[in-house]
Amino acid sequence: MTMRSSIVIAAVLLVLVSIQLDGADAGNGTKPFFTAIFSFGNSYADTGNFVRLAAPIIPIIPFNNLPYGETSFHKPTGRASNGRIILDFIAEAFGLPFVPPSLDKTQNFSKGANFAVVGATALDLSYFMERNITSVPPFNTSFGVQVGWFEKLKPSLCNTAAAKECKDYLGKSLFVMGEFGGNDYVFLLAANKTLEQTRTYVPAVVKAITAGVERLIKLGAKHIVVPGNLPTGCIPIILTLYASPNKADYDRSGCLHKFNGLARYHNNLLRCEVRALRAKHPGTKIAYADYFRPVVGFLENPANFGFDGSRALVVCCGGGGRYNYNATAACGLPGATACADPSRAVNWDGIHLTEAAYGSIAGGWLRGPLAGLAR
Ligand SMILES: *[C@@H]1O[C@H](CO)[C@@H](O)[C@H](O)[C@H]1NC(C)=O
Ligand SMILES: *[C@@H]1O[C@H](CO)[C@@H](O)[C@H](O)[C@H]1NC(C)=O
Ligand SMILES: *[C@@H]1O[C@H](CO)[C@@H](O)[C@H](O)[C@H]1NC(C)=O
Ligand SMILES: *[C@@H]1O[C@H](CO)[C@@H](O)[C@H](O)[C@H]1NC(C)=O
Ligand SMILES: *[C@@H]1O[C@H](CO)[C@@H](O)[C@H](O)[C@H]1NC(C)=O
Ligand SMILES: *[C@@H]1O[C@H](CO)[C@@H](O)[C@H](O)[C@H]1NC(C)=O
Repeated sequence: MTMRSSIVIAAVLLVLVSIQLDGADAGNGTKPFFTAIFSFGNSYADTGNFVRLAAPIIPIIPFNNLPYGETSFHKPTGRASNGRIILDFIAEAFGLPFVPPSLDKTQNFSKGANFAVVGATALDLSYFMERNITSVPPFNTSFGVQVGWFEKLKPSLCNTAAAKECKDYLGKSLFVMGEFGGNDYVFLLAANKTLEQTRTYVPAVVKAITAGVERLIKLGAKHIVVPGNLPTGCIPIILTLYASPNKADYDRSGCLHKFNGLARYHNNLLRCEVRALRAKHPGTKIAYADYFRPVVGFLENPANFGFDGSRALVVCCGGGGRYNYNATAACGLPGATACADPSRAVNWDGIHLTEAAYGSIAGGWLRGPLAGLAR
């Protein structure tokens, strides 16, 4: 091992140790604060559901191929990243196992279950179908459907006949909701809606998220974290699909500011609704978790986070093009290759972030909103 690589490893260990401590601090020091984690969401949170759901239908699932998973797992796990995602860092911080995908029926879910599925939307599939929006994949995995899966699993987690047992168990569980909404907007745009038309769906999307949160509160959730959207205009697939010849469409980080405006609008509305939910359900702790500012921060000051500033918007694992995102040679397909050092990249595959970026965001959430929930 070279001196340089041992310094890098020491630095990585330090970061991990500090994340662990953050989590331990969040409890009272004697016992991990949360005894289970239940997660809902899309490809930013999926730990293996989509590959199980889609395996019989889709012959080639990129997430099922290396280099997905190369960094921490050394094999693909169904996570849409090179390694761990935010949910993994949260589980580690609270001393819990990685949250198992709910469709893996060999698992014991007593310490949590992850219902997130790649491609999931906040709005139900029927909402899109009724409006002839056919760009939505046919998988029926919306937030509402995922909450239904949790409801079905609940009797195996705690004795629903003894109400107090379930109340105590779920009262000590952490519920992570998303993010949701990013896919709803991407599918609306793919159906050739303009940005202005897509904006008109934001209230319905946010309402679907709050409706799901309220259903979970009714089912016993007490500690809930609701993440907002990423800065859509900084995501390489969006930068590629909606590239503009007009320089004025880009901000100083090279992001498409109108697309960021859509995410900002969503996040503002969602934060308002989170405040309203807190007031309406005083027995619960509901936190908003920010995806937007950390990602913008990576792009504005990449060196501060160990990222390569000359390639901050360039995908690590891809098959060519301005942002190294190429739909016909996407990560996990022939023609795509991964960069030598993913820890220097923000974006992994054009849509999802690298383990390094997720670890940094998770650290912020653990010091901020999650520490607040675990108090
Ligand atoms: C810490 O939490 C445990 C379990 O929730 C509880 O039994 C214990 O009394 C707490 N200790 C302190 C110092 O608050
Ligand atoms: C699941 O694990 C818990 C302990 O973590 C144990 O009490 C329970 O019996 C297990 N359930 C099954 C079905 O194995
Ligand atoms: C999706 O699944 C839910 C719950 O299983 C069901 O009620 C609904 O009808 C399904 N929607 C579609 C469009 O298949
Ligand atoms: C959807 O398409 C069908 C068949 O093309 C048409 O009859 C229906 O009016 C459309 N509905 C909406 C809401 O556009
Ligand atoms: C969107 O527009 C493009 C280009 O005009 C067209 O090729 C595509 O079929 C349209 N998609 C939908 C879902 O209408
Ligand atoms: C995208 O990938 C295809 C298939 O490998 C390749 O033919 C094409 O040249 C690539 N496009 C760019 C812009 O590199």
